[in-house]
Amino acid sequence: MLRLSGISKRFVGVQALRDVQLHLRAGEVHALMGQNGAGKSTLIKVLTGVHPADGGEIRLAGQPIHPRSPAEAQALGVATVYQEVNLCGNLSVAENIFAGRLPRRAGFIDRGRMAREAQALLGRLHLEIDVRQPLGRFPVAVQQMVAIARALGLRSRVLILDEPSSSLDVDEVQHLFAVLRELRSQGLAILFVTHFLDEVYALADRITVLRNGEFVGEYTPARLPAPALVAAMIGRELAADAARQPASVVAPDAAPLVEARGLARRGALQPADLQLRPGEVLGLAGLLGSGRTELARLLFGMDRPDRGELRVDGRAVRLEHPAQAVALGLAMCPEERKVDGIVAELSVRENIVLALQARQGLWKVLSRRRQQEIAERYIRALDIRTADADTPIGQLSGGNQQKAILARWLATEPRLLILDEPTRGIDVAAKQEIMGEIVRLARAGLSVLFISSELDEIARLADRIVVLRERRVAGELPGGSDEATIGRLITGAAA
Ligand SMILES: Nc1ncnc2c1ncn2[C@@H]1O[C@H](COP(=O)(O)OP(=O)(O)OP(=O)(O)O)[C@@H](O)[C@H]1O
Ligand SMILES: [Mg+2]
Repeated sequence: MLRLSGISKRFVGVQALRDVQLHLRAGEVHALMGQNGAGKSTLIKVLTGVHPADGGEIRLAGQPIHPRSPAEAQALGVATVYQEVNLCGNLSVAENIFAGRLPRRAGFIDRGRMAREAQALLGRLHLEIDVRQPLGRFPVAVQQMVAIARALGLRSRVLILDEPSSSLDVDEVQHLFAVLRELRSQGLAILFVTHFLDEVYALADRITVLRNGEFVGEYTPARLPAPALVAAMIGRELAADAARQPASVVAPDAAPLVEARGLARRGALQPADLQLRPGEVLGLAGLLGSGRTELARLLFGMDRPDRGELRVDGRAVRLEHPAQAVALGLAMCPEERKVDGIVAELSVRENIVLALQARQGLWKVLSRRRQQEIAERYIRALDIRTADADTPIGQLSGGNQQKAILARWLATEPRLLILDEPTRGIDVAAKQEIMGEIVRLARAGLSVLFISSELDEIARLADRIVVLRERRVAGELPGGSDEATIGRLITGAAA
């Protein structure tokens, strides 16, 4: 269906793609794999006319094509759901599905027909929602389904998904996969990017691996076990996972740094008690919507509690604003990088020093030299792939932007660091390094609240695990508890 050959693309300072090939067949799901910055998104953007290629050829069903915009690619039958969902939150679901080709009758938009057809397209994806509601009211999972419905409405032959599962929970991923399997059986050619290896083995018929902008190989999952896949991506064997981290250095009776007593907010969290001691990694587990993010927001002063008390260093505090939390030495790396995170026009350096500068106050500007030192230190520590510190952060690959946000909060040298799903979108090797760095900091006295849906990560890293269910604390487990035990507490299933 689609044959890319000899594709090259250079940005100022980086050869993002060099002589890359990709063969996509009708009726297959093809995984595009590689480390952060390997060139996956760039290849997709070349294919869909966002960036012109410097060289190479794209053939669709045998015919050479030269799309100059995503709209042109779409008209040819190549539809894309990008890494950041690119729809209009203020328009209705139906309008998003039909944007650019609204059905008309006698010159007027035929709203009835539009709603009916939108409903029918979503029905094919087993989704029943009110298509007249603004899209922004729905969770990301639904927004992605809407993007896919839009692609179907355009009678696409090729569907491309760049990290579709990064912001979905387990059930939503299952739904997405069921839909993709169905579309595959209808003959669609599907290309998808992911950093979750399990997904590749659950879904993909074939795998193409890129490394440093170059084609490494095309494989079938059956003949490429996970360790070999990782080796193909990073160019070496991944060191055996440092099994369990050493036990916490914290004395169990150490005074808590941060303590919540009956902290609650209507509709968000039932009264919760929580203690965080210096040097401790506390894992916070639970399903999406269980109250994890809500608890984090209360601790960080992003929302105000209706009830209960928050204590820092044993003193009751009322946080009206995150700036006050930052002044007390708290830091929070948020879940959704595009909304809460990066300032795309600013440089990597400016993005990294942003929180530190804010804490110092705007009248005490960090010297350019100090900024440069800090930026370079974290670029090295987290291996952020960028030409230099002055590159606009919007030019970094998705995973590297995420590392820069983490650097921003580490740069404030906080006493408590709240991490909400910090490794979504980060490749396997980088994930291992980042987790190692966090544990090192914890052993040096940093206290960490670690929110993750990946139970193996929680089990391995946390000294203690607190589980939330239906917006209340369901229980606590010691670090090193096995995944099944944590999973049972999360869902409330009997042992
Ligand atoms: N608009 C741009 N301007 C300059 N450089 C860019 C631009 N877009 C991407 N790059 C660079 O091209 C390289 C490949 O980036 P790309 O986004 O394709 O990586 P990726 O494989 O999608 O990574 P990730 O897994 O982190 O999303 C990176 O070095 C990136 O910094
Ligand atoms: Mg990408």
